Amino acid sequence: MRMVDMIEKKRDGNELSKEEIDFLINGYTSGEIPDYQMAAMSMAIYYQGMTQQERVYLTEAMVKSGEQIDLSAISGIKVDKHSTGGVGDTTTLVLAPLVAAVGVPVAKMSGRGLGHTGGTIDKLEAVPGFHVEISNEEFIKLVNKNNVAVIGQTANLTPADKKLYGLRDVTATVNSIPLIASSIMSKKIASGADAIVLDVKTGNGAFMKEIDDAIELAKAMVEIGNGVGRHTMAIISDMSQPLGYAIGNALEVKEAIDTLQGKGPQDLQDLCLTLGSHMVVLAKKAETPQEARRMLLEVMENGKALETFKLFLASQGGDVSVIDDPTKLPTAKYTFEVKARETGYVSEIVADQIGTAAMVLGAGRVTKDSTIDLAVGLVLNKKVGDFVNVGDPIVTIHSNNENVEDVTKRIYEAYTLVNEPAKIPPLVYKEIM
Ligand code: URA
Ligand code: CA
Repeated sequence: MRMVDMIEKKRDGNELSKEEIDFLINGYTSGEIPDYQMAAMSMAIYYQGMTQQERVYLTEAMVKSGEQIDLSAISGIKVDKHSTGGVGDTTTLVLAPLVAAVGVPVAKMSGRGLGHTGGTIDKLEAVPGFHVEISNEEFIKLVNKNNVAVIGQTANLTPADKKLYGLRDVTATVNSIPLIASSIMSKKIASGADAIVLDVKTGNGAFMKEIDDAIELAKAMVEIGNGVGRHTMAIISDMSQPLGYAIGNALEVKEAIDTLQGKGPQDLQDLCLTLGSHMVVLAKKAETPQEARRMLLEVMENGKALETFKLFLASQGGDVSVIDDPTKLPTAKYTFEVKARETGYVSEIVADQIGTAAMVLGAGRVTKDSTIDLAVGLVLNKKVGDFVNVGDPIVTIHSNNENVEDVTKRIYEAYTLVNEPAKIPPLVYKEIM
């Protein structure tokens, strides 16, 4: 097999075989296939696309390029949730204990990464003492005992994807549905989930800005997941404005505590119930999403969801007294109210700009080596559709720096007020099975 022949084949719009795709991924991971040939192949895929069969082979080859997590020692159907990422997306913090409370085993492998705020692990580390440096044995023991545990990402998960993603990033080939779908799914599959619920976000704060692109990506991922024998479904959800009120690590932990008790922001609660009910169904703990939703609401109301969160945090070293007294979470030195400069209805809150404002405060990492400030962030007091009077606080800034001029400017730029009542975007656009 010669790489140049395969590039030519794909360039001309032909289908690659399983042997060819295995050769490609093995050769690229080991370094035998150079970057320039893989770059040409990525561009050929970008223009010619890949068939469903090719996507499955590519995903499987990437899964096999590194370690695969074996969760078979955990009883029950392990369901994982993946979000394509947004601003102030507190869902994982809520969902893990929420579905665990109705008996779904959650064996979560999470990362830190770059972004407007930290990743799930950073957020959880706002709880003093909480840590994810546990052995695989301990991880499995905890999931069997509490139904939920979180461990840091194995260094050797899908090395082929790591290398290819880096190459795509500098060759203008990130934006290819087959490449994105196989990249995301290879990581989920290698992490050992039996079933996967995908939250594909759309809107200006999302990776997929246009709904049609989000739908296409979701379909591609669902087909890959089901194609490799992992039951997969997706929802398309709105990320034109941030989710919930809080954007920031400790602030989101507080928001998660509220939501687990049914006292959180309506949109965050709704999304958690929707995603959670599909997780419960895929785990075969309920027959229908409606039945699952009722079960989840019940554990929010009877305290079991919060109890499960406490058990989970305590089992990994966390000081759970913060749950009853969230003032014990890292707290910023200063708060500032950003006040409306006019009267009207909020018609838009550009999620991206709000996210960047939170990052400027120090809530997220700009580069891999940045340290994040767990205490800082933003709390939105007004969301799309709300009416505001001039002088009303629209956003509260939590900062450890006295100078928040730049952050304030970004917040004003993100908000648009209009005279007529503004349309509230739907939270969930579509479900893809
Ligand atoms: N996120 C990923 O993990 N992979 C991609 O290719 C794009 C976004
Ligand atoms: Ca939030």
